[in-house]
Amino acid sequence: MKNLSEKEKSPLASLEEWEDDVLARYPEPEKGKAEFRSYDKETDNPIREFYRLNHTYQTYDNVLAKKARFLKFEQMEMPWWAAMEYLNTLVDDSDPDTSLDQLQHLLQTAEAIRADGHPDWFVLTGFIHDLGKVLCLFGEPQWNVVGDSFPVGCQFSDKIVFPEFFEANPDSTDPRFNTKLGVYSENCGLDQVHMSWGHDEYMYHLTKDYLPEEALYMIRYHSFYSQHREHAYDHLLNAHDHEMFKWVDKFNPYDLYSKSPKAPVLSELKPYYEDLIAKYLPETVKF
Ligand SMILES: [Fe+2]
Ligand SMILES: [Fe+2]
Repeated sequence: MKNLSEKEKSPLASLEEWEDDVLARYPEPEKGKAEFRSYDKETDNPIREFYRLNHTYQTYDNVLAKKARFLKFEQMEMPWWAAMEYLNTLVDDSDPDTSLDQLQHLLQTAEAIRADGHPDWFVLTGFIHDLGKVLCLFGEPQWNVVGDSFPVGCQFSDKIVFPEFFEANPDSTDPRFNTKLGVYSENCGLDQVHMSWGHDEYMYHLTKDYLPEEALYMIRYHSFYSQHREHAYDHLLNAHDHEMFKWVDKFNPYDLYSKSPKAPVLSELKPYYEDLIAKYLPETVKF
């Protein structure tokens, strides 16, 4: 790939800008209608530019290349808690009044899950689900870390936000990849499917030996909005995926709607979360 400019690496002022946009698209049911923003007129809209880059560069080959690099886990190794603090060094340039740091989002998600009496592994899942965003700290451009995830290797669904930007993706004109099933077969199961690269897929690989399968589905597919909200890829899911996506659906409201006015205090909650980490995860995480 050509060398990317700073603007091409980081079209967003912060990763949160993507999440705010998802929230605008899928608002909390009681809280009114989706905000249909008229992006098209705003050529310098950072979200639009983010998706233009994401949809242009998330190719089948990009995914294989990122897997080859990051699934060797050769970046660094540290205790899990230190890793959570490391994630928090991701600098957020957006409005300090409205933005949360990474740990606050994770803590609020987890605390909302805990308050509803869910099992402890579900709480832990809420607490770590975005840790894969450390990819940004390893120099990855934002569009290789966040954004709605989707299958590569087959036709891009028009249910994905800004579908028109896929026209610039070389896979769209590649006969191996541009049919409905592409390199896959009908209902082959998502485990056979390569998803666009990002923090979800990376985090799945970091936790797959330690957490229950329900948790792994939540982690791996939490940004797969075109499926869990729009059901655009039913032809790739098998019966087991459908069963497991009930958990992805259960998780999503906590991810999107748990921003609480009163911020949980990290230092007070640290012992509880350290115990949870110790119960399920090894001493260290190898990125
Ligand atoms: Fe996420
Ligand atoms: Fe999240």
